[in-house]
Amino acid sequence: MSKKNMDTAFFGQPRGLSTLFFTEMWERFSYYGMRAILLFYMYYAVTAGGLGMSQVTAASIMSIYGSLVYLSTVVGGWLSDRVWGPRRTVFFGGVLIMLGHIVLALPMGVAALYVSIAFIVAGTGLLKPNVSDMVGGLYSPEDRRRDAGFSMFVFGINLGSAIAPWLVPWAANGFGVHAFGNHMNFHAGFSLAAIGMFFGLLQYYFDGKKYLSTEGLVPNDPIDKNDLHKIIVKIIWGVVALAIVLVIMAVTNTLNIDNVITLITILAIAIPVYYFVAMLRSPKVTKTERSRVWAYIPLFIAAAIFWGIEESGSVVLALFAQERTVLHIGGWHFAAANFQTLNPVFIMILTPFFVWLWENWKNQPSAPSKFAAGLIFAGLSYVLMAVPGWLFGTSGRVSPFWLVGSWFVVEIAEMLISPIGLSVTTKLAPQAFKSQMMSMWFLADAVGQAVNSQIVKYYSSATEVPYFLAIGIVSVVFGIVMFFFSKKIHSLMAGIN
Ligand code: GLN
Ligand code: ALA
Repeated sequence: MSKKNMDTAFFGQPRGLSTLFFTEMWERFSYYGMRAILLFYMYYAVTAGGLGMSQVTAASIMSIYGSLVYLSTVVGGWLSDRVWGPRRTVFFGGVLIMLGHIVLALPMGVAALYVSIAFIVAGTGLLKPNVSDMVGGLYSPEDRRRDAGFSMFVFGINLGSAIAPWLVPWAANGFGVHAFGNHMNFHAGFSLAAIGMFFGLLQYYFDGKKYLSTEGLVPNDPIDKNDLHKIIVKIIWGVVALAIVLVIMAVTNTLNIDNVITLITILAIAIPVYYFVAMLRSPKVTKTERSRVWAYIPLFIAAAIFWGIEESGSVVLALFAQERTVLHIGGWHFAAANFQTLNPVFIMILTPFFVWLWENWKNQPSAPSKFAAGLIFAGLSYVLMAVPGWLFGTSGRVSPFWLVGSWFVVEIAEMLISPIGLSVTTKLAPQAFKSQMMSMWFLADAVGQAVNSQIVKYYSSATEVPYFLAIGIVSVVFGIVMFFFSKKIHSLMAGIN
């Protein structure tokens, strides 16, 4: 037995899992707590404590922000792999995230919002992919506790994500429990997010010193002089290209937030396209591996559609909660922001059932079929949201159970796509592109949210019925098409399940 296999100090798992569990729990607490109130902070009137943006711009920023957070994981993964090693990269990331929340905690207006976004995008890119990577590193290859370890880690993610939408809005509402009042102190909410990340960092630093392996202090594949030179040249070209685009936008008077968002949308779609082309054309990729990359393309598109719908929960469904939903059940009052707890709560409730299902279902469907079913459920969660407006009109308020039902259905989809996608991604990766392929999984989410940043502009109470119906049907139709091709895709996967 290797030394790694003997450590059973955390519920039978290595003690280091506890360190990573609580680090990621607090990081997700800060992220989803911030997102639960950020939308309202952006479009609430200045007199109500907000920034007074238009609702459309606020929704669009929410989506492109989410997209950038996952796009930056590409850089974070690379820096860990080639420069710092995961342990330091995660720490730097946590510091940047905390600074990002502190900036929003200060009453400094729109400029602070953009600075905070920059910090949190960079910080999450450094932290998120590498903290998951370190979980894998706790186990030797033959260790059978690995899957259970990852399930516990995902539970930590959802625990932090479930608590935050109660505590952060509560702080933002002057520690009041009911629907948001006429004047909010959003900055108090963002302070709580900063404090959460601070706890995570303290715990990561001191506990990590004792329980994380020193392997994580060195990069996997340290960069040499030659590579460094090439990369610097690439970065310079990138910066020059970006500067030229921005200058052209400035002189043609088109440098505004909408166009910047469109620019990022194009980038978010171009990056995974570039990766796919690079993998398909690389001489280092064998014939079988190339077939698996082809199989990954439809799975990637399905994942992007799914994440587009799932991530719209903190944008479109949050607006629906605020404007169209009765915010109490009997005498129990709550705020629209509290609905964000439903996504992680349903994940925690559904996970044991799906773990049991995959362990016991003998002739279970292949990954492409599960993805197809996931798309159908995701689409149905949206179709369901078209019903209240269609039945009762879109001017009044409806029961909170419409949203509860929709979140329940989309979380069934998440169970069919997220854990399966994660495992299939690693298995379909060509040897020469192992670490890039993990980033591909996060890029699917980035693409979904980039597309959202364009389409949320069409959402309002007046348009909700066609909006939910159209997007829901697109997802269902994709799911059905994917079912028909699932055999073909599965055969392209060349032996991977
Ligand atoms: N919601 C999950 C998290 O925040 C998964 C995100 C993803 O895989 N895109 O960790
Ligand atoms: N949906 C978020 C995640 O998958 C909370 O964990």
